[in-house]
This record gives sequence, C-alpha cells and structure tokens, in this order.
Amino acid sequence: MRLLSSLAVTAALFLPSYAAPFLKARQATAASIYKLPGSAWIENLVVRPNGQLLLARLDVPELWSYDPATKAGAKVAGFTDALSLTGITEVSPDVYAVVTGNFSTRGFSVKAGSWAVWAVDLTGTTPKTTQVKLVPESGFFIGIAPLDKNNVLIADAAKASLYTMNLDTSAYSVVLTDASMKAPAQGSLVEGVHGLKYQNGTAYFTNTFGGGFYKVPVTLDSATGKVTAGKPTEIAALTMAEDFILAPDGSGSYYVAQPNANSITKISADGKSSKAATATSCSSVAFGRGANDKNMLYIATTNGAVFSASIA
Ligand SMILES: *[C@@H]1O[C@H](CO)[C@@H](O)[C@H](O)[C@H]1NC(C)=O
Ligand SMILES: *[C@@H]1O[C@H](CO)[C@@H](O)[C@H](O)[C@H]1NC(C)=O
Repeated sequence: MRLLSSLAVTAALFLPSYAAPFLKARQATAASIYKLPGSAWIENLVVRPNGQLLLARLDVPELWSYDPATKAGAKVAGFTDALSLTGITEVSPDVYAVVTGNFSTRGFSVKAGSWAVWAVDLTGTTPKTTQVKLVPESGFFIGIAPLDKNNVLIADAAKASLYTMNLDTSAYSVVLTDASMKAPAQGSLVEGVHGLKYQNGTAYFTNTFGGGFYKVPVTLDSATGKVTAGKPTEIAALTMAEDFILAPDGSGSYYVAQPNANSITKISADGKSSKAATATSCSSVAFGRGANDKNMLYIATTNGAVFSASIA
C-alpha cells in the first residue's frame, strides 16, 4: 500500500512538462509490419513515390515490394548472373539504380569482379530491368546514390573507393580512394565504405568494419561529366554502422542502422548521438513519403523483416 501510494506521488511529479528536461531523447517503439517468406535477408530499402517499399534482398537476386496500405508483399523483379542485391537508389521518379553481384549469405564470402549496376524502371505497367554495366575491377559494390538522374556514385566496400557510373553511356571510373573507407578483413569479408547518400554537393558514407560516419564534398561538372571529390571528414565515430538516411525534415539529422547494437542511432546536426529505435538486426532505413507516414521510419533487417517506428 505504502509503496503504491509513493509510486503514485512520484508519477504525479513527473508530468510531461517536468519530465522532459530529465529524459534522454525519446526512443520510438519499432513494430514488426512484414516478414518475407523463408530465411530472407534484406540489405537495403527505398520508398516508391506511391508509398510502397522496395526491398533489395541479399540472399537471392530479387527485388520485392511491400505495401504498407494493403500489407501485401510481392516479388517485383529478378536479376540474372548474380546471387544477391545490395544497394538501391531512386535516380528519377520511380526509376532506380540497383547493385547486383555475388555474395553468399551462407559462406559470408564475396566474389570480386561480379558486381554490376542495373536500371529498374517501374513507371510502366510491367517492371523493366536493364544491366547498365558489370565492373570487372569491382571488389564489393554495396551503397549507391544518385549525383543526378544519369550519374550515380557507388561504394566499393572491399577497395575503399567510390566509383561513378553514367547510366546512359555505362562509362565508369574511380572518384576517390581513401583511408576513411578502408576496413580490416573479418574472416573472408572486407566491409569498409558501405551506406552511401548524396545531397547538394556532399556525399555521406559509413565504414562498417573500419568504423565511422563521414561526409565528403563531391561535385559533378555537368558540362564535362567529370566527377571530383574532396577530403572526407568524420561526422560521428560510430562502430559497425551500415545504411542510413538523411532526415527529410531539413533538420540536418541522420538515422543510422547499427545491426550489432540492434539500434537505429540518431545523429543530430550538432553531432550528438542518441538511440532512435530498437530493431533486431537492422540493415537499412527509409522515411515514408506520404502525408500519413512522413514521420514513419521503415527499418529493414537481415532477418527478412520490416519494422516501422514513428519518429516525433
Ligand atoms: C555468380 O555466381 C553464379 C553461381 O556460382 C555464377 O553462375 C555466376 O556466373 C556468377 N556471376 C558473376 C558475375 O560472376
Ligand atoms: C546547398 O549548398 C550550398 C553551398 O554549400 C548552400 O549555400 C545551400 O544552402 C545548400 N542548399 C540546400 C538546399 O541545402
């Protein structure tokens, strides 16, 4: 009785207005909303203009969709001459660049020289997939981000490099190789530069085994098509960081998946980090694009699940 009444008094003291200054950043509860059949692995996800999620699978060379409105999932497209998909990014409305190659989720091994970029056009009645280019020099292509609608940046996790590729001409070259993208081997895997985003002259990337979350100036000269990069600087000293998203609200914060910590970490514009959500084996994150889900963080996992967490 005494314990209960003293708890009631304590609770009454902690009205929201008093409690707020003492609490750490609010952590959202992530809810499981979908699970792919079988033992699937989702490496990356993006949200389509129509609100559906596109899920890039590492365990099979397949792109799947999940519709939060109807709660239905389906295979969208398969890819030839590869075992896996890694990165995916939208280059123009409902047109995507997708990275394919040979990764074994059983042996945890990567085949150098197997990595390619494909274009996936979902604007028509049936999905159209076209291989842009297989890159024989590739080590382990993983993250991908658009510089404009015809040019992408690609992260090579094994070679500590950023590539650029023109989706029209298939021309590609190394833009930058840097120590910030390098990682020591863990078993048969070298996983350095991994998650990759680009916005307004700056590329952002994580280094998974090497550690860190960085930014680097990258510019595309639209007249010559030449891509140049500056020197990377660290935003936050994260460990085992994979994919991430720049907050679409213009706040300058980032949400980063850290699968070993089962955590989505928020890095605010001032560089402070806090836990935004808990999700087991999270690999990648994306915000909703509709009026109803623009504050919804969709989280994909290496267990083939999709979670959602409402971010205030
Ligand atoms: C990927 O692996 C499969 C199965 O071993 C093989 O048939 C295919 O040629 C490989 N692809 C590349 C691009 O090396
Ligand atoms: C883009 O970068 C320029 C130069 O750094 C800056 O002045 C501008 O405000 C940025 N625009 C946006 C939309 O962030």
